[in-house]
Amino acid sequence: MAARPKLKSVPLMRCPDRRPRSASRWLAAAALLLLSLPAAMPLRADEAAPPADWGDRLKACAACHGDEGRTVGDDYYPSIAGKPARYLYNQLVSFRDGRRQHRVMASMLGVLSDRYLGEIATWYAAQPHAKQPAFEGATAGQLAIGERLTVAGDSSRNIPPCQDCHGERLTGVQPSIPGLRGLPSRYLDAQISAWKQGQRQAAAPDCMGRIARSLTAAEITAISAWLASQPYPADAQPAGRLPHDELPIDCGGVLP
Ligand code: HEC
Ligand code: HEC
Repeated sequence: MAARPKLKSVPLMRCPDRRPRSASRWLAAAALLLLSLPAAMPLRADEAAPPADWGDRLKACAACHGDEGRTVGDDYYPSIAGKPARYLYNQLVSFRDGRRQHRVMASMLGVLSDRYLGEIATWYAAQPHAKQPAFEGATAGQLAIGERLTVAGDSSRNIPPCQDCHGERLTGVQPSIPGLRGLPSRYLDAQISAWKQGQRQAAAPDCMGRIARSLTAAEITAISAWLASQPYPADAQPAGRLPHDELPIDCGGVLP
């Protein structure tokens, strides 16, 4: 493998035309911290050890996502540590390019290249997961509906079981499908609802958009409550392969 170039910060003015126009001083400082010479872009955690000083470089992200990408508790900010690298990379590109909406993140990521986003994704993918406590606010009715739809899907509405893509233990599948365990119920609910309403999109064909549009708002809340209520697994590593070795319906951005 080619030698990794030494990482160092470079002045913001390297990309004058891509600078966020109304960035606050805080955002400008955060973007400056993030800018560096890009290195190679391995997208699997096991391909290369990311540079050790990235915990410092990504302090601006830690303000919301916790140290090394671990948030704990039923708040809103999702943990990003230990998620599949290609999934994280796809999300960073989506925030930067407007398929997902978050003003602060879009401003911070808007100045960064694909290669650099790949480095960030690789670093977070290699960090240990956050151990999440189980959510306790679900009703018995929500748990029943949520479990049924997650485990069995609903063939009469073309909704495949979530496990068929998110892995038998729902801990995700390398390299592009995220786990559904250990996420705040409010976050899960908001994401699936955003897909239903067209506010979150993934690369076409957007299988999650199709699934979310088939679910009612009450079912989305029930699924989110059931998922967040499950005890956090001792081994939350994403699986190496899909349970049936193929997707039940096509999803863009998912690598074999
Ligand atoms: C001001 C708070 C804030 C900051 C700073 C921030 N994020 Fe986020 N991030 C969020 C929120 C909120 C979401 C969920 C957005 C949504 O509702 O879609 C999110 C989502 C994400 C996701 C997608 C997670 C998933 O499971 O799909 C990734 C990856 C991510 N952020 C990475 C970063 C990185 C890298 C940085 C630093 C460059 C950063 N974030 C800075 C608040 C923040
Ligand atoms: C056909 C495969 C497939 C099925 C079935 C599927 N998903 Fe997904 N899901 C995906 C893919 C691919 C992504 C990543 C999309 C992206 O890159 O933004 C995803 C992402 C998600 C996310 C975003 C996680 C995060 O951290 O932001 C949630 C939540 C989710 N799925 C919930 C579900 C639920 C609940 C079900 C069952 C009702 C389900 N999915 C069924 C393929 C699938």
